[in-house]
Amino acid sequence: MAGSLAEFVVIANRLPVDRFIEPGGGTTWRTSPGGLVTALEPVMRRKGGAWIGWHGAPDEKLKPFDHDGVRLVPVPLSGQEVREYYEGFSNGTLWPLYHDVIAPPEFHREWWDSYVTVNRRFAEKAARVARRNATVWVQDYQLQLVPAMLRDLRPDLRIGFFLHIPFPPRELFSQLPWRRQILEGLMGADLVGFQLPGAAQNFVRLVRERVGHKTHRDTVYLPDGRTVLARSYPISIDAAGFEELARTDAVEARAKEIRQSLGDPKHVLLGIDRLDYTKGLRQRLRAFGELITEGSVDVDDAVFVQVATPSRERVDQYRLLRDDIDRLVGRINGDVGRIGQQPITYLHASYPREEMAALYRAADVMVVTPLRDGMNLVAKEYVACRYDDCGSLVLSEFAGAAAELRSAYRVNPYDINGVKTALLDAMRADDRETARRMKAMRKHVLEHDIDHWASAFIDELTASREKHGKRTRPVG
Ligand code: G6P
Repeated sequence: MAGSLAEFVVIANRLPVDRFIEPGGGTTWRTSPGGLVTALEPVMRRKGGAWIGWHGAPDEKLKPFDHDGVRLVPVPLSGQEVREYYEGFSNGTLWPLYHDVIAPPEFHREWWDSYVTVNRRFAEKAARVARRNATVWVQDYQLQLVPAMLRDLRPDLRIGFFLHIPFPPRELFSQLPWRRQILEGLMGADLVGFQLPGAAQNFVRLVRERVGHKTHRDTVYLPDGRTVLARSYPISIDAAGFEELARTDAVEARAKEIRQSLGDPKHVLLGIDRLDYTKGLRQRLRAFGELITEGSVDVDDAVFVQVATPSRERVDQYRLLRDDIDRLVGRINGDVGRIGQQPITYLHASYPREEMAALYRAADVMVVTPLRDGMNLVAKEYVACRYDDCGSLVLSEFAGAAAELRSAYRVNPYDINGVKTALLDAMRADDRETARRMKAMRKHVLEHDIDHWASAFIDELTASREKHGKRTRPVG
């Protein structure tokens, strides 16, 4: 396939593979865990797809290569671009700005310049790889300028964009010195997808107020007669795949082993997150620590396992967070632990899917309390793995997933007393109540899986060009 033009192109900051160096020194690529590539693989294979993305290392140029029937097209980034485009503008400006400014976003003109340069590189790559009238799907906040840049180069393409993280209300978005350029960048797409309807509404309203285009409900009318649709498509997981994995003997045995090594407590509570300040780790651990200090939970009865996956470690805010969480865990364990009884088991590591499934199987209460989160797929993975209808989910109302997982124990993560109450309710619930809640959530997750998400978006993208592509501006 290498060399031929692609009918379907995905553009994301990262390629969907991780590199492994074999003992003999050879290089192999393995598909990274995560749903997007799993969902898109069948479409990619069928249509002769290509995936354009950065391979994760600075200052290295790689040739396109085929992996599992998909053509991968690496985009190089220099060390300086990693600092300015990726760590800087993407993760030091946009990430905190789009997540309720939980950490203060930094605005630096050199970071912006680098963002423009790198977005152009991605767009140019796509323009060379896509066949005439092909469909191109651009992913996430790192690449918001790509739709318009690509449309300039290749007006024949059908272009979709999906934002995996929240899209902020105008009061926050308006802080961005380059707000208009971002909106115009996104408007290069025929269809702009968001996790939640509120985010799509934020976008349409900003376009109307800041750019001055006519809008009606979910449609933006551009002066040249083109229209842009803004809609929500809540992303999901390979639910059946997770359940299947969870049902294997190996995972079941590992889950038992995990519980045993924790001392077979009455309650195992679990958090699994990227180590990110949006995830509400501090509030959650404090809540659990207080329950033990006050005696509402006996230190012999409950263990909190917190897995924090290393992430963006060269960004200052992430370094500070790591120190902060290290100290907090140390303090709580030091204050309320006993010999052989550490209330918090803290793991700064990333694990393969099998180990995650075993942890989900081992946990009585899954604690997902982000301060703001586009969706949160961990919550859905937990539900998919609980085929026995056991296990409770404590879920932040500020995670996108809360709109769908209505039977979770819902919390405001900033309200530590509220989190404590929810943890206690979840631990004390009887089996019938637990099963009732879990059944309802499982039904939703199994019906709304990642295939459902991808086909809903792609079908609308295909239809939108045909239906609205040539529609003209409304009168008035
Ligand atoms: C979030 C973003 C993704 C990003 C992932 C990991 O889920 O929406 O775009 O890839 O975090 O972050 P990283 O910076 O390591 O790619």
